[in-house]
Parts: sequence; structure tokens; C-alpha cells
Amino acid sequence: MTNVTVLAGDGIGPEIVHEAMRVLDAVNSAHNLGITTNEQLFGGAAYDKHNDPLPEVTLNACREADAILLGSVGGPVYDQAPRQLRPERGLLRLRSELDLFANLRPAMLFPELANASSLKPELVSGLDMMILRELTSGLYFGEPRGIEERNGVRVGFNTMVYSEPEIERIARRGFEIAMQRGKRLCSVDKMNVLEVSELWREVVERVGKEYPEVELSHLFVDNAAMQLVRAPKQFDVIVTGNIFGDILSDAAAMLTGSIGMLPSASLDSNGKGMYEPVHGSAPDIAGQGIANPLATILSVSMMLRYSLNQSGAADAIDKAVANVLSNGYRCQDIAAESDGAKIQVVNTSQMGDAVLNALDSAS
Ligand code: IPM
Ligand code: MG
Repeated sequence: MTNVTVLAGDGIGPEIVHEAMRVLDAVNSAHNLGITTNEQLFGGAAYDKHNDPLPEVTLNACREADAILLGSVGGPVYDQAPRQLRPERGLLRLRSELDLFANLRPAMLFPELANASSLKPELVSGLDMMILRELTSGLYFGEPRGIEERNGVRVGFNTMVYSEPEIERIARRGFEIAMQRGKRLCSVDKMNVLEVSELWREVVERVGKEYPEVELSHLFVDNAAMQLVRAPKQFDVIVTGNIFGDILSDAAAMLTGSIGMLPSASLDSNGKGMYEPVHGSAPDIAGQGIANPLATILSVSMMLRYSLNQSGAADAIDKAVANVLSNGYRCQDIAAESDGAKIQVVNTSQMGDAVLNALDSAS
């Protein structure tokens, strides 16, 4: 029996997860996967009910699951909540409790969406890169941290810290992913200024000796940001720390013009993972039924592939999504004007229907 814990979360989370669950149910029966799902409260939704964004029952269900599907968490209504109880803190705790240190954020351009990018089509067409972000350490988790008074002035502080084993395991994951792709790995740091990056680079170099086939390069994070918007196709796999990866992955996602299309995986060392769309909770459009569910649907596909060993079912979903795009279905976020008359703008549930129909007609 395979067990998936589903966390719809906040904002557009419930709407997009609903469509993703319909798709999961469909492949579950069509491919006899024997998957059971259980839904749990998480983020602001859990805070509202239990005064805790990650209640014990949710954490336990996640621990027991084979994989986790997450919508999104957070929203401006929670900005006033005590810092420790904000939805984002729940997400960080969940990542940390489950040791989901390897965050895979693919940035790929669906050929039909080249016009939705803010860059010229020739700069992005064929773009297919992977950002591997360390997710359970670095600036997000380092101690000491806090806000306190020093000599009569208030100061806020955080600590960027990486241990050698932490760098080693994310670097190794980076080389392994590169081996399965274009065999090029770019490690991003800020070695010219930060000691933590000095160690990072040294360890990445050392691990690299075990992967002579992979071409290893290094960039400072400011230059990496520039290169991403100048010539993104130079990258195959980027490996970087938590805060740099947070920033660079948003930039990379946006250059595909399809942040509403991109799934992500956060994996532990045993292949267990949490899967979620790269985009956030989009409070500005929540509840309107217009959010794009495709990133969440593709997250289901990634979950089947990386944690549940069901690549057949994953392929079926990927194909169905490609079909839907080539048939012209677009949610409003990816409906570029220059695509002209051949596209049809649909809402969240119509997009779900279109994917289900494509799955059906393929089987
Ligand atoms: C992300 C998000 C989170 C992060 C927030 C919501 C805590 O921006 O997954 O990239 O900063 O990691
Ligand atoms: Mg982010």
C-alpha cells in the first residue's frame, strides 16, 4: 500500500490541489497504483484551526507517508501572527523535521509558451535546467538568530552556516543529477566575501573528483543572477545553498514565462519527498477559480517518478499536459497575447477537465 499525505494549504492551494487530486485519482485507477491519500491541515489553514501551522497530527501523517503533495502556504492575513506560528515557519519546520535537504527546481520552457517569457524567445527556447537548492540549513536555519537590543539599538541577525557533511551531501546529489542530464554542474556561492562559501567551494571541488565525467564550474551568486537573465541556456544543473537557491530559482522560473507550470521536489536521502508547485499561494487570485493547476499536476507526476517508482503513470500525466498545451488550453497566467486566436483561456477546473480528457483519450 502506498500512502500519500496531501496538504492543500492556503491561498490558491486548495483549488489547485483539488485538480491535482482528480488527476492522481485517475492515474491511480487506470494504472492500478494502489495509492491511498489522506488530507491534513497545514500552514495558515492549520493555524486558524489549531493555532499551529504544523500540528502534531499533520507532522505524523507526513512522517508515515511515502510522499507528500503540497499546494502552497502563507498569505498576508498571517503577517500579524506571532513569528513562530506563521505558515512559512510551518513549512520550514516540515522540511527540517523530514530532512528534505535536496530541493529540485526544474526550469524548463514548454515550447508552446515561448512567448510568455519576458526574455526574447531565442534566448529561452529549449531552456531546460535544474536548480538544486540546499533546503534544510544555511541562512534559513543557522543559529544564532533573533532581534535584540545591543548598546541601546535594536539589531536583527541571522547566521549563514554550513557543515562539511551538509555541503558534501548536497554536492553529491548535484553531481548525480548532472550525470543523468547534460553532465555539467555549476556551483553558486559568494566565496569572494563569505567564509561559509569558502568551505562550500572547497568541499564541492573535493566531491567533484569522484565525478570526473561532470564538468564543474563555479559562479558568484551575483554573476549567476546576471547570467541567468543574460544567457540562461548555458546552464545544465546549478547547485547552491538555501538563500541563494531561493532567489535564483524564482528568477529561473520566471524566465520560462511559466511559473504557473513548474513543479518541484524536496527529497531526503531515502527518496521520500514532498512535491509542490514552485509558485506561491497567490492570495491576489485565491478563491476566484482561475489559478493554473498545471504546476501541481506536474508535481504529482514528479512524485510518481521520484518517490513512488511509477514512471509509466508519470509519463502519462506529462504527455497529457503537453497535449493540453498544444491543443491551445491556457490559464490566464500563461496566455500570452501574441499567441493570438489559437488559444483558449480556461479556468482552474476547466484545465483539470482538459488534462483528464487528455489522459482518457490516451488510454
Ligand atoms: C520557497 C518559498 C519559501 C522559502 C517561503 C514560503 C518560506 O519562497 O519555497 O521558495 O523561502 O523557502
Ligand atoms: Mg522562494
